[in-house]
Amino acid sequence: MKKHLLALSITLALASVSSLVHAQGNLAAGKQKAAACGACHGEDGNSLISTFPKLAQQHGSYLIQQLRAFKDGVRKNAVMSPLATSLSDEDMADIAEYYAAQKVSANAEPTLPPNDDDVKAADVKDPSAKKPATIETLLAQGGNLYRNGDIPRAVSACIACHGPYGEGNKPASFPALKSQHADYLIKALSDFKSDERSNNPENIMHMIAKKMTDEEIKAVSYKISTMK
Ligand code: HEC
Ligand code: HEC
Repeated sequence: MKKHLLALSITLALASVSSLVHAQGNLAAGKQKAAACGACHGEDGNSLISTFPKLAQQHGSYLIQQLRAFKDGVRKNAVMSPLATSLSDEDMADIAEYYAAQKVSANAEPTLPPNDDDVKAADVKDPSAKKPATIETLLAQGGNLYRNGDIPRAVSACIACHGPYGEGNKPASFPALKSQHADYLIKALSDFKSDERSNNPENIMHMIAKKMTDEEIKAVSYKISTMK
């Protein structure tokens, strides 16, 4: 069986150069096919809405992996699953080629969202009793976790797989994270933590995220959103 597959793949590889080009995806065709995605992800893959992920500059192999996962139902999302179901392998390869060739846009400087606890803290008699975190301390905490992880609690350093600049790892299909929207990152990490998103066979991100507190998820997400 294996021998047969190997012989077949060699035959296919030699059969025509166009099949190789095909497997790589066609950028111009991808641009046309991605028109349907632009309403949410932005025409060039830089979505303007923080809960819709940016796809620009993402590794093609990772994009294809995720689209297959939506199509096969192993990554669940009410919006994306039906859309991915209508895509052929060729469509996915073309669209991935297009988004991978775009440049991800930088985000505006983050600000700390007002939250109820902070408002209440201002009302208590001793204001120093509960100091709201500043955006600077949050970013510093996130940057520290990104670079160093938390070894005693076995939280791996993100830098090992997602790179010093959040550029990911193309050969390994580890996604680029830089300049992604913080809100989407928080959702992705929370979904890994709860095991809602578990399409990766090794479940790497679940093992990491389940050890992270919600505060750490917020801190590292804000930090990543500022990486360029
Ligand atoms: C109506 C809005 C909408 C449209 C249209 C849409 N998407 Fe999405 N897409 C989303 C949302 C929301 C998510 C995040 C899902 C989640 O939270 O897991 C997503 C996630 C993705 C992801 C995963 C990104 C990552 O970083 O893991 C890919 C890839 C993707 N979409 C590709 C496409 C393609 C290709 C099209 C067009 C055929 C498309 N989307 C059309 C809303 C949309
Ligand atoms: C051992 C390698 C590894 C380490 C370490 C790692 N990741 Fe990941 N990460 C992955 C892989 C692989 C995926 C893709 C998972 C999938 O396909 O579902 C991923 C996916 C993600 C995603 C989803 C991206 C998207 O576009 O949807 C986020 C967010 C993320 N990682 C954040 C982190 C953070 C934050 C850390 C550090 C606390 C971290 N990762 C550490 C390998 C790693």
